[in-house]
Amino acid sequence: HIQAVLFDLDGVITDTAEYHYLAWKKLADELQVPFDRHFNEALKGLSRMDSLKKILENARPEPSFSKEKLSELADRKNEYYKELIRQISPADLLPGIHNLLEDIKERGIKTALASASKNAMFVIDRLGVASFFDEIVDAARIQHGKPDPEIFLTGARKLDADPAFCIGIEDAEAGIQAIKAAGMFAVGVGTPENMKQADFLVEGTQDLDFEKIESAFLLKNK
Ligand code: G6P
Ligand code: MG
Repeated sequence: HIQAVLFDLDGVITDTAEYHYLAWKKLADELQVPFDRHFNEALKGLSRMDSLKKILENARPEPSFSKEKLSELADRKNEYYKELIRQISPADLLPGIHNLLEDIKERGIKTALASASKNAMFVIDRLGVASFFDEIVDAARIQHGKPDPEIFLTGARKLDADPAFCIGIEDAEAGIQAIKAAGMFAVGVGTPENMKQADFLVEGTQDLDFEKIESAFLLKNK
């Protein structure tokens, strides 16, 4: 049976994926490099610096910045982002998430937050759901970002759970790849073209029904 559920944060628990987009957009406009929602899909789940590098690589000619400049730009984006998340409240939980967390808790199944965001703790606190998580993986201690499985494997290890009996929930292609590379069952929130490797796919968080996820998991592991 299922031992643990590992959650992505941005775009799964709350719509901060939109705020990340807006903050990057503001920075990209200032730098006069192209950036749009379509390109943003490829950034979802990536660390702050990996995201910045991808945006710059996409520009023609590709700007070449010193390490110091890169870190200043990443900090600037983070300041824009922090401004946007200041007002987050429990009303910003995405539909179905509170129920899902309760259903999981009631069954005695463990949960971890596996977000690449260094702002994760702040967001989870503002949303009022910190107590639902048995473990929150510290993004600052992760060496290899998604699609590497490290963050999901770290979460499972902290929970003392076998990855083969873990579920990961993600809205990003890089995240789904990380879950699969960790040997877990991947639940995707989004459209099929961004979630090719997902074991179970829903269009929106309102469709994240624990019993349905469990049935799909059991069917796959029969
Ligand atoms: C999540 C988001 C990414 C974001 C990353 C780092 O993975 O999906 O869009 O770049 O976290 O977030 P941070 O808050 O540390 O800049
Ligand atoms: Mg996400």
